[in-house]
Amino acid sequence: MPLPPICTTFEPYFLLSDERLHDIVNHFRKEMEDGLASYGKDVAMVPSFVTGVPDGSEEGTFLALDLGGTNLRVCEVRLFGQHKFEIKQQKYKVSDELKEGEARILFDYIADSVDAFLTEIGSDISSNEPMHLGFTFSFPVEQTAIDAGKLLTWTKGFNAKHAIGHDVVKLLQDAFDRKHIHVRCSALVNDTVGTLLSRSYQSGPALIGAIFGTGTNGAYIDKTRTVQKLGEDKIKQAEAGGEHAGQFMVVNTEWGAFDNGRNCLPVSQFDNKLDRESINPRKQAFEKMVSGMYLGEITRNILLHLIDSSILFNGYSSKTINTHYGYDAAFVSAVEGAKSPEEVKKLIISQLGVKEEHIGEGDAEIVQWAIRVVAIRASKLAACAIAAVVQHTGNDKVPEGEEDKGVDVGVDGSVAEFLPNFSERVSEALAVLLGKEGGKRVRMGLAKDGSGVGAALTALQAKKAMDKRTEGKSHSQFVPGKKGFN
Ligand code: BGC
Repeated sequence: MPLPPICTTFEPYFLLSDERLHDIVNHFRKEMEDGLASYGKDVAMVPSFVTGVPDGSEEGTFLALDLGGTNLRVCEVRLFGQHKFEIKQQKYKVSDELKEGEARILFDYIADSVDAFLTEIGSDISSNEPMHLGFTFSFPVEQTAIDAGKLLTWTKGFNAKHAIGHDVVKLLQDAFDRKHIHVRCSALVNDTVGTLLSRSYQSGPALIGAIFGTGTNGAYIDKTRTVQKLGEDKIKQAEAGGEHAGQFMVVNTEWGAFDNGRNCLPVSQFDNKLDRESINPRKQAFEKMVSGMYLGEITRNILLHLIDSSILFNGYSSKTINTHYGYDAAFVSAVEGAKSPEEVKKLIISQLGVKEEHIGEGDAEIVQWAIRVVAIRASKLAACAIAAVVQHTGNDKVPEGEEDKGVDVGVDGSVAEFLPNFSERVSEALAVLLGKEGGKRVRMGLAKDGSGVGAALTALQAKKAMDKRTEGKSHSQFVPGKKGFN
């Protein structure tokens, strides 16, 4: 059965033309440059003070904490060198009350979870000194040092009070100290930075670490000099091997906030509804079209519109479809993976709670269509973000006189891992944006556990820097792919 004409009128918002994709990449590059030049921009381009990538030889045992995905995770990470590691971990649920209550209570809960982990799971770290912990905090933070940074804004359903503008390392350390927990938070790291480091540790130097999960974001390696907002003094200091040593620095783009000004993204009425009803309207515009937290909700808005127009399910809805965030991206993945309209029909009954007698001929195809266009748009936009970084760093071409090593991108997150066809569609769009050859040079690979391994690697770098300072030596320099954290 052909799709009802109303569906095709919405398609331009989702099935983006090649021209539109190029336009989005150009805007992306401009916003990245703005974020590197000054503070306070939507695409915040946060310097991470991580000055290179590991080479896989790093060793040591560290605690890692991961806040910002679906659960709070406490881990003990053992880095064995030779690209190998082992993780012991425990997940703790963060209730909506904690997410939206007082920050002090949230951080007390985090400290209690670390305490519970150490008691229940135990740790192999034996020392009289405090245990070093890397804190993966996956929200926009204006980082001022490897172990300090102020929260700029909450995202992904968090909205705890009295946290914005505060140093999150201090909030955590104060909670440990209040409870006499012998742990030192020595590194603050975004999950994308962790993913970049983890990918490099496991499979060789990567350029980008990207998360397509509950939220979306990317980190990459740039020349420290390009981060102009650090100011000439700090840049020179960095280049001379001072406190922020390194010719290179990992930059956390915070691309989820790309085009908050709505100049180029394809904002449909369904996106407007989602944004208006969200706890952070007019923020994270890009994230709201790409990440797992929102994919189900956009499709729910489309289905509701079609139901209210008496085009779908004979005009009948269900409790699940009527509920804000009534279903999530797992349904999107299930429908994308379905082999036939009959299978989709079963999912509509079992997961959306629509009565069988209300499902008309052709309805399963309409649901499949809604899911497919939303998933296609998410993957094409994801490709725009990657292409913008590849072009910005000049990696769309092989540097003259150099061997072509390709561009490695470590990815993590539920969308990257579980949404069928996601990586194939990203690759197709990359071929459009970077040319067939350019597109082929980009290698994307899952970098699981980035937040744990990355946090441990950053804690290791911080500890080494601390030890060197105590010994009176200067901070070491890293060149991507040439020298590790040891
Ligand atoms: C946050 C980022 C994070 C991303 C993926 C976004 O909402 O702002 O800091 O990296 O989610 O977890």
